[in-house]
Amino acid sequence: MNALKKINLCIMFGGSSSEYEVSLLSAYNVIKAVDTEKYNLSKIGVTRSGVFYLYSGSDECIKNDTWQTQSVQKLCVRLDGGGFFTENGEKVPCDVVFPVMHGEYCEDGKLQGLFDMCGIKYVGCGVTASAASMNKYLTKLVAENWNVPVARYVHLKRRRIENHLPLVISEINSAFEYPVFVKPVSAGSSVGAYKADDERELISALHGAVKIGGEVLVEEYIKAKEIEVAVCGNDEPTASVCGEINPGAEFYDYDTKYKNDTASYYIPARIPDDISKRVREYAVRVFRALGCRGLSRVDFFVQDNGNIVFNEINTLPGFTNISMYPTLMNDMGMTTPEIIDELVRLALE
Ligand SMILES: Nc1ncnc2c1ncn2[C@@H]1O[C@H](COP(=O)(O)OP(=O)(O)O)[C@@H](O)[C@H]1O
Ligand SMILES: [Mg+2]
Repeated sequence: MNALKKINLCIMFGGSSSEYEVSLLSAYNVIKAVDTEKYNLSKIGVTRSGVFYLYSGSDECIKNDTWQTQSVQKLCVRLDGGGFFTENGEKVPCDVVFPVMHGEYCEDGKLQGLFDMCGIKYVGCGVTASAASMNKYLTKLVAENWNVPVARYVHLKRRRIENHLPLVISEINSAFEYPVFVKPVSAGSSVGAYKADDERELISALHGAVKIGGEVLVEEYIKAKEIEVAVCGNDEPTASVCGEINPGAEFYDYDTKYKNDTASYYIPARIPDDISKRVREYAVRVFRALGCRGLSRVDFFVQDNGNIVFNEINTLPGFTNISMYPTLMNDMGMTTPEIIDELVRLALE
């Protein structure tokens, strides 16, 4: 009897965003969970400067970021549907790519555009949904249009901040009470995000946030529980239970996410059942509204009075040891190898 044909799966890691290191940790976990009885696994590393390599060294060297000193072969892509090739012309067998990469160039549709041009199938959202989901201003517009509540906000571009700062400040002062929350329109892992308690902090936050991509959101500060939902599927997406993060810090900043040990996690979230049901319904609504595919993690605030506020969506959520997406899916009864099977199945559908 013939053995079942293995699927050629390429896991991609690294990338030129500020979340390079997060990607290494995420990819390490995904690689460890790949069932090599079912998949013929190739690993593709992308350096911080954007060079693609076929990697055949140890997984530990991915985790500790020494992979580039190991067995690597430079890769080329062919845009005629040919896919990935090594420099000496060998084709990398690839039925599907799982780009376990976050942030700019990885999660914002640009890499997905490259895959489309190469005729390569991939896990997760396509170009449009990825690009729209990465842009917190566009996501808010879409969510509002689908009657999903968002925090009040002002959207600012670099020129306005640089050339009309006094006007901008007085507009914000009349629209909001302090504290306010300031963040880049397109970033992740809380890079460039600030809570501003007064005008002085607001000015420094605007200067900090605008450095990342040149567009900024100033939002009303939402004092609330942070609730995250894992959504999985293509045309008929389903939502996981709600997870809750208590950062144990002023907010869920980069260090709290990946370095410090102050955050606590609750699954299911400590919110009433009817609120949880509505959050899950909103999560699926946002996923559908943006045209997402495969997976996304949809993040909310839930206030003590039961108010639900959609915050953001992540089309390539983290898969680190403490990441919510795999943890929530595990809680739904799926092991991490089963999550990979399902994501690959959805990519090939
Ligand atoms: N309007 C807000 N009010 C209070 N805290 C906020 C607000 N927006 C963001 N935060 C805090 O900042 C963190 C990062 O912001 P988020 O919008 O999720 O961006 P990122 O894509 O960097 O994760 C959130 O997890 C939350 O702790
Ligand atoms: Mg976030």
